[in-house]
Amino acid sequence: MAECRICGGAVDEFFDFGRQPVSDSFVTPETAGSEFYFRLAAGICTSCTMVQLMEEVPREQMFHEDYPYRSNGSAVMHRHFEDYANRLLATELSGADPFIVEIGSNDGTMLKTIQKADVRHLGVDPSAQVADFARADGVRVRTAFFEDSTAREIAAADGAADVIFSANTTSHIPYMDSIFRGVDALLAADGVLVLEDRYLGSIMEQRAFDQIYDEHFYLFSVSSVQKMAEIFGFELVDVEPLTVHGGSMRYSIARPGKRTPSAAVTEFVDRERTQGLASPETYKQFSAGVLKSCKELTDLLKDLHAQGRTVVGYGATAKSATVINYCGIGPELLPYICDSTLAKQGRLTPGMHIPVRPSEAFSEPYPEYALLFAWNHAEEIMAKEQGFRDAGGKWILYVPEVHLA
Ligand code: SAH
Ligand code: TYD
Ligand code: ZN
Repeated sequence: MAECRICGGAVDEFFDFGRQPVSDSFVTPETAGSEFYFRLAAGICTSCTMVQLMEEVPREQMFHEDYPYRSNGSAVMHRHFEDYANRLLATELSGADPFIVEIGSNDGTMLKTIQKADVRHLGVDPSAQVADFARADGVRVRTAFFEDSTAREIAAADGAADVIFSANTTSHIPYMDSIFRGVDALLAADGVLVLEDRYLGSIMEQRAFDQIYDEHFYLFSVSSVQKMAEIFGFELVDVEPLTVHGGSMRYSIARPGKRTPSAAVTEFVDRERTQGLASPETYKQFSAGVLKSCKELTDLLKDLHAQGRTVVGYGATAKSATVINYCGIGPELLPYICDSTLAKQGRLTPGMHIPVRPSEAFSEPYPEYALLFAWNHAEEIMAKEQGFRDAGGKWILYVPEVHLA
């Protein structure tokens, strides 16, 4: 049994995907085979209930110069971050000379709105190429891993932060003790730490097993984040469910006693108890469901192949690495995946080496079926690609179960 990275308790493993490559390592034909592999397995801490991976991937293997993910790839996400930045400007950042730090600022999609309002800000992100996109938009970025030493340096140079914001990033960071020591060094006395991430409750409800991959070291719930905050000397004071990425949650964390916790916190803790989010039975059912989904998906792809149907993938997501490699889906079943990200195009997916082609290739010609790996952006993509359905095309989805749409 592994030791919980949050509380030191025992982690009870519930699913083992076996040997898996780093999910965002889109290789060139020349570098194919150089992917870093690890054992992808998830468990739940029997003490603090934090769902986490059993094995940790060295951070430099995931986040580096060549890291391809860009927040700006979805118009919905762009609007989502713009709206929240405007809300922060009207609330937490409305005092005299406010300062906000973003952990995992990526291409600056969120901070761009803050920069335009002329508010002091700093993004922190170790992935050099995406950080350069942010800089090109005038956003101030430090290319580094956020941890306690980075935070102390920022505090010394820029002073205390009124807001520390982090979306879809703290779940990627096993060393939360160092993160919270950093937050303690950097956050103003009455400041707020806002975390946003995929929500465990939605993942379990929708059997979204592909949310389990190297970068998602933790899958947060309100109960586990509440305990995590407490363990590291903070307090969870508010939560807000979000629809993005198939179901997310926004957590507001403050120094203890500084803010009155909202009713929503207790409501979600109660709801999670009723849902059985900490119960072994839930994970047993989830695991049986994963095996069922994977079998149905591979059977469907093999059937379509046997019938001579054309099938391609859509959205070379990090999530897809788990599905493709665990199910053993190779280029013979899925000749290519279309994706709008320049840095992924012309590359091969990690492990199974399926070529990634530009979105424009989707209609040249349309396939009969398209496996939607970016199911969390289904509405946006299906609207954009209405021509596919008009031409008689069918989407294949595997969340919450394998079905055609
Ligand atoms: N916040 C953006 C990006 C999420 S992708 C969004 O929600 O769309 C995760 C980002 O976290 C990547 O850009 C990665 O380089 C960055 N990251 C990973 N570890 C980090 C760390 N320790 N400190 C700061 N950023 C980190
Ligand atoms: P996403 O699901 O946001 O994240 P992750 O990689 O963490 O699983 O990734 C969406 C991918 O889909 C990304 O590579 C961009 C691509 N995409 C398109 O090709 N077209 C689109 O219209 C959208 C919204 C995304
Ligand atoms: Zn624990």
